Amino acid sequence: MSDALPPTQDHAEATPPVQYDRMLVALHWLLAIGLMAQLGLGLWMDDLPKEPVGYRAQWFNLHKSIGICLGFLVLWRLGWRITHSVPAPMNPLGSWQDMVSKLTHRAMYLCMLLMPLSGFLGSNFSPYPVKFFGVVLPRLFEPDPDMKSLFSEVHEMSAGVFMTLVALHFAAVLWHRLVKRDGLLQRMTWGRAHHD
Ligand code: HEM
Ligand code: HEM
Repeated sequence: MSDALPPTQDHAEATPPVQYDRMLVALHWLLAIGLMAQLGLGLWMDDLPKEPVGYRAQWFNLHKSIGICLGFLVLWRLGWRITHSVPAPMNPLGSWQDMVSKLTHRAMYLCMLLMPLSGFLGSNFSPYPVKFFGVVLPRLFEPDPDMKSLFSEVHEMSAGVFMTLVALHFAAVLWHRLVKRDGLLQRMTWGRAHHD
């Protein structure tokens, strides 16, 4: 990228942006917080007692309602991501860091789709109705214990893989911030990213 080029309209359109746009930044952080909270809630509620009646169910219903909202936010983010330009990769093209980063991002997006989808479908195969903040949603399937446990398995596995990927992602961002100091973190903020 040469600073000597005149800043014509054509040039501005052909050059990838220096950082992620405001919508992608907002969705990244909203989902990062929402998904971490949802993972914590999911793991915590699993051990809740069934007595008094309704106590466990009320947390499960909250988890389902938040999960459905997160699912829509993920769809919105993916739609926006596909239709807008993003900065060029930070690592040299074709380097192992570039490949691991692309693979991790794609796998995180896949998990972000699988987690709400498997939770929603699994819950539709359980005998309990799915309530969205108190509103009973129409049942999609007849209760089926085998299908319920299949989707529960997918739900648990995708959450496990996702947590591993997020840990890797976090480590990579720290490495860029503390060791490489290349301004990567600023690409995912509302401030102006610098590029050398
Ligand atoms: C991004 C969204 C979601 C995340 C990150 C998430 C995460 C989790 C985690 C970590 C657990 C505990 C581990 C396990 O036993 O599977 C769990 C359990 C559960 N989740 Fe979710 N969940 C999400 C969305 C949903 C949705 C949309 C529903 C239903 C509408 C749902 C329904 C359940 C149920 C019923 C359980 C209890 C275990 C089971 O029966 O499978 N989840 N979730
Ligand atoms: C649940 C937590 C998180 C998830 C699911 C997540 C997911 C993602 C995804 C999918 C991307 C790729 C964006 C794209 O190209 O569309 C990304 C980029 C990024 N994330 Fe996260 N993230 C999480 C937490 C964090 C945290 C805690 C940090 C900071 C410490 C962070 C910093 C960044 C940065 C700087 C980028 C831009 C990377 C680049 O420019 O190549 N993320 N994140």
